[in-house]
Amino acid sequence: MNHSTKEKKNLNWKNLGFSYIKTDWRFTALWEDGKWNQGELVRSEVMNLHEGSPVLHYAQSCFEGLKAFSSPEGKALLFRSNLNWERMKETSARLMMPEVPEELFMRGLIECIKANEAWIPPYGSGASLYIRPMLIGIGENLGLRPASKYEFRIFACPVGPYYKSGGLSLIRLAVTDLDRAAPQGTGAVKTGANYAGGLLATHRAKELGATEALYLDSSQRRYLEEAGSANIVLKMTRNRFVTPSSSSILPSVTRKSLMVLAEQELGLTLEERPVDLRAEINEIEEFGACGTAAVLSPVSHVLLDGPWHAFYKEGQEVGPVMQRLYQTLTAIQKGEQEDKYGWTLLI
Ligand code: PLP
Ligand code: COI
Repeated sequence: MNHSTKEKKNLNWKNLGFSYIKTDWRFTALWEDGKWNQGELVRSEVMNLHEGSPVLHYAQSCFEGLKAFSSPEGKALLFRSNLNWERMKETSARLMMPEVPEELFMRGLIECIKANEAWIPPYGSGASLYIRPMLIGIGENLGLRPASKYEFRIFACPVGPYYKSGGLSLIRLAVTDLDRAAPQGTGAVKTGANYAGGLLATHRAKELGATEALYLDSSQRRYLEEAGSANIVLKMTRNRFVTPSSSSILPSVTRKSLMVLAEQELGLTLEERPVDLRAEINEIEEFGACGTAAVLSPVSHVLLDGPWHAFYKEGQEVGPVMQRLYQTLTAIQKGEQEDKYGWTLLI
């Protein structure tokens, strides 16, 4: 069956936010009796789950987020999906879930994107197709143990900017006294429980006038971890591009890509190491939050120990490093610039 219709949907592409929009098809595959079935595209966005499903009680869930972009020629380009597959593999192993084979992951992605071609935002709209692969433990269960069945599902939604102000938007982060993750916990994998645990921190940060919460390490409350839905990158004095290393932050595909660009394209010196926020704050020249949804959002202010620390003065332009990194990353993603690193896949 040919699922795809080429003609674009009639959406206000330039004004999309980051919200669920029901697209035509989603991909689903089931793991039962120790093996995966072939998987198929289905119409319904509603899942029929057993009330004992381990995902519902014990949060046996993992997910990914990646984007497809329209190129100037109107082709769809997928960004670094191999890294999302690898991360889902890491997450599923940590949560005692079966590995989704790379072939199934990639086939599901490609089928889902092609079937929803009419929903891929057109070139020049500033929007993209956000793709959400997920793996959950389902089926009858009561005691604390891994599920006996799993569903791997992929759906996609056209999205605009994650943070309201759009494009290369300036955001504010408030350091929270809640912890997101412990050193040997699940902070480095993409499981739903990490996000449920972070909702209160984000809520409190918003009450203080911030866009999101910023976490410090849970044992000493000294070292930078990450924001609720994004990693942190810093342009520091002496041409350094610095990013926190920690066993409890999510290894971001976007951060990994920005590190390559900062070194190769901007000639900055890379440092991936613990960052003592209070001791080093005056050496930070530009502060950024990065992720698939967040792209690269420059951070204008951080609330730390009482006062707001400003990285930008009122009315000041975004710093040159974050500006160039944003432009280079998004130009590669959209196929406007030669993909010399082999990061995009033509669908
Ligand atoms: N950190 C957290 C907690 C996230 O949810 C995300 C988003 O996926 C990121 C970082 C950024 O990761 P990536 O660039 O792979 O999307
Ligand atoms: C992403 O950037 O893909 C994420 O998963 C973050 C999510 C909280 C929207």
